[in-house]
Amino acid sequence: MISAIQTQSLAKQYGSLLALSEFTLDVARGSIFGLLGPNGAGKTTLIRILTTLMRQTSGEAFIEGLDTRNQGREIRRLIGVVPQENSLDRYLTARENLELHARLHGMESKRYRKRIDELLELMGLAGRQKDFPDTYSGGMQRRLVVTRALLHEPKLLFLDEPTTGLDPQSRRAVWDYIRSIAGDMTIFLTTHYLEEAEQLCDRIAIMDHGRLIALGSTQELKDRLTGGTVYEIVFGAGAEHYAVILRGMACVLGIQVAGQTVSVGLERWECLSEVIAALNGAEVRRISLKERTLEDVFISLTGTGVRE
Ligand SMILES: Nc1ncnc2c1ncn2[C@@H]1O[C@H](COP(=O)(O)OP(=O)(O)O)[C@@H](O)[C@H]1O
Ligand SMILES: [Mg+2]
Repeated sequence: MISAIQTQSLAKQYGSLLALSEFTLDVARGSIFGLLGPNGAGKTTLIRILTTLMRQTSGEAFIEGLDTRNQGREIRRLIGVVPQENSLDRYLTARENLELHARLHGMESKRYRKRIDELLELMGLAGRQKDFPDTYSGGMQRRLVVTRALLHEPKLLFLDEPTTGLDPQSRRAVWDYIRSIAGDMTIFLTTHYLEEAEQLCDRIAIMDHGRLIALGSTQELKDRLTGGTVYEIVFGAGAEHYAVILRGMACVLGIQVAGQTVSVGLERWECLSEVIAALNGAEVRRISLKERTLEDVFISLTGTGVRE
């Protein structure tokens, strides 16, 4: 089975700067794949090579089995691209922007009119289609660019930081639209928001300084963190006393006390019943599982937080 995207030892050099290096990746058809990395990691460079806007210095990249070096025309027919910058024509209305794109892709007017109507409806932009993009909010402009990328019914959709700069509500709206259009399309998105990758993606690659540093499902990446599972126990009183008891237990890896809240790191979640037995008689207000975020994963892999 041909992969949607495949790269082999891909590299890109800008003068003396190696922006992409030894980059090998495989993206399955129909998946939502997230490429995560801080600013300057090389995400846009990779997207520009995959979408045939720029040539690699060395290595190979294939889109649906087509070579980015000499099958650009065939590739561009298969893909939709949402670039990092919106790149809308401000002197055309929203609808005219879409019609221009459809004509550039050789679509017939009967087909593109219907498709534009459907997509504007789906994206919640139908009522504003005669307005100019400058009058749109950031979230609406982003949705318009996504609409434009979907017009010619691509098999693969590339989104370069689809929600950067949007407020949390618009970000969630864009996430909903991405989920609703996914279907059997392959979606490749870049982001520097860990939560975004976690919410949307089946698989995630983390990159920094042009290199791939981790690859897997969200759960796999979380599991790569050491320390097992962490539970938070909130006591009404006596936290210190019980912290001492818990610290002495074999399956407890670590303990942290903050006021009446004790965080307990367990080797396996099965140890929880032992912990609960040891708390017999204690005034426990709440026990909760502390979810690890991808931020934790990122810090444990790169040693630093996300640079924003
Ligand atoms: N056209 C270019 N010429 C020279 N350096 C570039 C160019 N485009 C990007 N870079 C540099 O390459 C590195 C990767 O950039 P980019 O791919 O845009 O990263 P990201 O999208 O992850 O923020 C950065 O250090 C950036 O400054
Ligand atoms: Mg970028």
